[in-house]
Amino acid sequence: MPIAYNRRTHKNGELRTQHAGQEVILVGWAQNYRDLGGMAFIDIRDYTGITQVKFNPQTDPVAHKLAGTIRREDVIAVRGNVALRGENINPKLPTGEIEVEGHELDILAKADTPPFEVDDDNEAGEDARLKYRVVDLRRPKMQKILRLRHRLAKAARDYFDSAGFIEIETPVLGKSTPEGARDYLVPSRVYPGKFFALPQSPQLYKQLFMMAGFDRYCQIVRCFRDEDLRADRQPEFTQVDLEMAFVQVDDVLEVVEGATQKMFAEGIGVEVKRPFPRMTYREAMDRFGIDRPDLRFGLEIKDLTELAGKTDFSIFRDALAAGGVVRCLVVPGGADLTRKTTDGLTDEIKGIGGGGLPVTKVIAGANGAPELSTGVAKFLQPHCAELLAASGAMVGDAIFFMPGKYADVCKYLHHVRTRLGEILNLIPEDEWNLLWVVDFPMFEYDEAEKRYVSLHHPFTAPRDEDVHLLDTEPGKVLAKAYDLTLNGIEMAGGSIRIHQREIQAKVFRLLGIKDEEAHEKFQFLMDALRFGAPPHGGIAMGFDRWVMMLAKCSSLRDVIAFPKTQRAVCPLTNAPGEVSPAQLEELGIDLRPEVKAKKK
Ligand code: AMO
Repeated sequence: MPIAYNRRTHKNGELRTQHAGQEVILVGWAQNYRDLGGMAFIDIRDYTGITQVKFNPQTDPVAHKLAGTIRREDVIAVRGNVALRGENINPKLPTGEIEVEGHELDILAKADTPPFEVDDDNEAGEDARLKYRVVDLRRPKMQKILRLRHRLAKAARDYFDSAGFIEIETPVLGKSTPEGARDYLVPSRVYPGKFFALPQSPQLYKQLFMMAGFDRYCQIVRCFRDEDLRADRQPEFTQVDLEMAFVQVDDVLEVVEGATQKMFAEGIGVEVKRPFPRMTYREAMDRFGIDRPDLRFGLEIKDLTELAGKTDFSIFRDALAAGGVVRCLVVPGGADLTRKTTDGLTDEIKGIGGGGLPVTKVIAGANGAPELSTGVAKFLQPHCAELLAASGAMVGDAIFFMPGKYADVCKYLHHVRTRLGEILNLIPEDEWNLLWVVDFPMFEYDEAEKRYVSLHHPFTAPRDEDVHLLDTEPGKVLAKAYDLTLNGIEMAGGSIRIHQREIQAKVFRLLGIKDEEAHEKFQFLMDALRFGAPPHGGIAMGFDRWVMMLAKCSSLRDVIAFPKTQRAVCPLTNAPGEVSPAQLEELGIDLRPEVKAKKK
């Protein structure tokens, strides 16, 4: 009689000493096979853990013989009795005090030799892991991560449900919504030459829900963006997306803080304190050079523009003449940094487009007074006292300087700060630095395109006190926009929206979206704004990033079951793939000759 594998009595991580003597049925994958002194041992594994099963040739010769044929990853069922291991306890396994004396064994499926071991200690290369994802996902680490993902989604859903939000699905086949990335397009067969765009976010639909009177909407939703990939970006990713009517900034932040608290508690058992600190965009840029500062460590940027104007240092003077700034980063104890480190950082700055990274060190001079040494010391020594006062540097410190345009200086000093944090081991691993960044500028001037672009998206409302600047100085308008950051990663972004038609039309015009284009792309929004739109606002949490951070992973690819690679392909299915000439024909699509040639 085959073992009734659908009647397993326990999972493989469950058995303990109190089960000794019980008859059990276990099912799962063979982790390994060993023959020790004539006894056969198999570790049987499922998502809960591993149990050792022993087969005795004297008492159970049939099962013992079959056990000898078992190979890694075979799927098996075992019937046996739980026994204490006595002296041979394995303290590394939760089930290590017992074993199962196997009396019957069935092989439910044979497995080929797996491409790598199902084992957390031996991580295979990413290509192999993604290609043979089914084997990779069997690893305890991946099982834990995807189960954490489930718990976080459930915590978010439960929280928003109890806070009066309802989940409504939005279309996947739609029209382009501008979030700053390229769209994934889907050709229409019925209307050859026309295309749907996959949503970059459900932004406009959720605003329509507010205008339709739903009051509070939340959706765990897939978004698609064809953009350059990084460790924290995937072409398709999941948002916890929400929108609320009749609210101000504080109301949205409060609700997200509640959800965050619940996700931390139910996901990883960590209690986070509320309210989360807030910092304006301007302060974040000034002090840390980035709109998502990691405050787990210091190293703040200091401004030296005024002082730079008094020096004869041509690099500084040139930057000022071009309308730029001079800023610096003081590294306490940095006088000990090796030449290799400072040269390495200079090369990195050049690698990301900078001109260099002037540095100097503060040492105790002959009479004990601080003086500058090495690097650009000779240009700045005459201003040493003023430099130390402005930068806060002391004897034993290093000072890295950055002259240039404000935005560039921010970018490079942020890079230096982050790298120094890593190099000098300044970043505590177990701290959770949640921070709201608020008061973003509405627009950014795009030098290449010679026009303003939205920093968030075109539906974001200006601060009430700045509305009048839309006509005169749009670059100075601040928005009712906010981002939530965690340890320097952008975890969520949102805003209060424009709910007045005239302001929306004005913003479109400011962005260079012509009336006809606005009409073609956003008429449905303008119409909805005509028929009574409540004040509203919302936010979207980058759900994959939440899982990544709470699971302490460094890439989104580790927290998505079937992710795309850095090159935006799926090694498992080989997507994207080619389609037949007949399908293209039906869609009215003809590939250009050079594209056809490339395919061959
Ligand atoms: P935003 O574009 O800021 O806002 O996106 C919200 C959050 O989604 C995450 N995110 C991503 N995660 C993984 N891969 C990507 N390619 C990716 N792009 C964004 C980030 C980000 O903070 N409609 C607005 C929200 C709103 O205004 O309510 C929006 O999508 O964590």
